Amino acid sequence: MPVTIELNGKKQTIDASPSTPILWVIRDQLNLTGTKFGCGMAMCGACTVHLDGQPIRSCSTPLQVADGKKITTIEGVSQNNNKAIIVQKAWEDLQVPQCGYCQSGQIMSAVALLENKQNPTDEEIDAAMSGNICRCSTYVRIRSAIKTAAKQIADAK
Ligand code: FES
Ligand code: FES
Repeated sequence: MPVTIELNGKKQTIDASPSTPILWVIRDQLNLTGTKFGCGMAMCGACTVHLDGQPIRSCSTPLQVADGKKITTIEGVSQNNNKAIIVQKAWEDLQVPQCGYCQSGQIMSAVALLENKQNPTDEEIDAAMSGNICRCSTYVRIRSAIKTAAKQIADAK
């Protein structure tokens, strides 16, 4: 049964089994490969996308859950979203990535955090980002980039 989603602002009808993980649809059917496959078990965060603005693990979320909803991936997160632009710029300025594999998921979680919290504490950052694993251990730079972005978002108001 086809499932209708709004992906990065564009309505799409997906012809796939409703139980297909969203990650397979966005990577294999729609060729949006910025979202990564890591563990496949909702444990690493590499596959993080937004579903109606909330971060989800797309490797473990079936397509049917997204029926009639909005999915945002790293490719679309900066469309009409100044906060996401500022977050990505902070990532660049602080040279956060090392190998880069986990970073689209990290950015998606960071954007969702800053949508909900204007000025997160270290503890709030660690709690919000705890499901995003970085094998290169860029955690200190991730935290700095989130704080930098939070300040720039506040200053831009
Ligand atoms: S690939 Fe989805 S959480 Fe690891
Ligand atoms: S930058 Fe390499 S896994 Fe995070």
